[in-house]
Amino acid sequence: MKAARACLWLHILSTVASLVGAFDPITTSIMFGIGAALSRTIYNYLHESCDHKWIAFNSTGLEEDLRNKLFGQHLASHIISKAVSGFMNNDNPKKPLVLSLHGWTGTGKNFASALIAENIYKEGMDSQFVHVFTAELHFPHVGQMDTYKTQLQQWIKGNVSSCAHSMFIFDEMDKMHPGLIDSIKPYLDYYEKIDGVSYRKAIFIFLSNAGGESIVETALDFWKAGKSREEIELKDLETPLALSVFNNKRSGLWHTSLIDKNLVDFFVPFLPLEYKHVLQCALAAMQAQGAKPDAGVADKVAQDMLYFPKAERVFSVKGCKTIESKWEYYT
Ligand SMILES: *[C@@H]1O[C@H](CO)[C@@H](O)[C@H](O)[C@H]1NC(C)=O
Ligand SMILES: *[C@@H]1O[C@H](CO)[C@@H](O)[C@H](O)[C@H]1NC(C)=O
Repeated sequence: MKAARACLWLHILSTVASLVGAFDPITTSIMFGIGAALSRTIYNYLHESCDHKWIAFNSTGLEEDLRNKLFGQHLASHIISKAVSGFMNNDNPKKPLVLSLHGWTGTGKNFASALIAENIYKEGMDSQFVHVFTAELHFPHVGQMDTYKTQLQQWIKGNVSSCAHSMFIFDEMDKMHPGLIDSIKPYLDYYEKIDGVSYRKAIFIFLSNAGGESIVETALDFWKAGKSREEIELKDLETPLALSVFNNKRSGLWHTSLIDKNLVDFFVPFLPLEYKHVLQCALAAMQAQGAKPDAGVADKVAQDMLYFPKAERVFSVKGCKTIESKWEYYT
């Protein structure tokens, strides 16, 4: 993609250059004027900028991606699709969109965030307007929390100032220092502007394992009752999820204050994945890496994952995590 663009760029430049050489001085300077304007246009075409050429929400694309690529998450798919579409199609949102994604490791929280990014930004997760923060990577030392707070506030302010449609993803939210979360709270709120900057078009996505156990319990209850997982509704999870998030000491602090102030617009539960979903992940991984999807290999990969409860082997302990790098060992 980038190489193709660079090629086009060179081609246009050399065409302009050869045209310029063929004319008298006046025409040449006119040509240069046009050339300069053209360069600016081309620059904008080649370099990601904060405009509709680079940031254009594709609602159908997101819906299809969630349906076809995010396996086993009927609730998350539905909520994310509705939430993001509603927000992006609103010209005048009253606050930034704040999603809180919950569930066990490997259930697709990062993947779902990437699908959102890909259907808003042409460059997807590589976009300069998408920012990912990880507690352990960006804010590792508790002693430097004050520095981190100032830095994070400046980053958010700086990035939203230069592009209102910025997206911030906070991974491992449960490992994030509560003080750090407090420092970003003002940006999630209903303010029209803070120091002259409006944050209302930004998107914040929090990823965490908080509440994961209660989601698993509910899913297991449904399975034991012989009901299909697609019968699980949000109301079956909302109360246990909220309760366990409140009661979890480590994650409770940040969530309590965010919930109290209604700053989180949507809680999105990710269900534990079953054998058949791991199978789908393996097949998709093969296809994504240019191999022919092989059901036999996928089955071996899925069979070798750990499942719980031990006797029934219903849910994959690590969801679809590590599948991408694993399947090749089984070919
Ligand atoms: C939106 O996504 C759909 C489905 O992936 C795709 O067919 C369509 O071309 C996309 N539209 C734009 C404008 O990119
Ligand atoms: C935007 O955020 C990134 C971190 O993702 C940071 O490095 C950069 O300095 C920020 N830009 C501005 C203008 O603040």
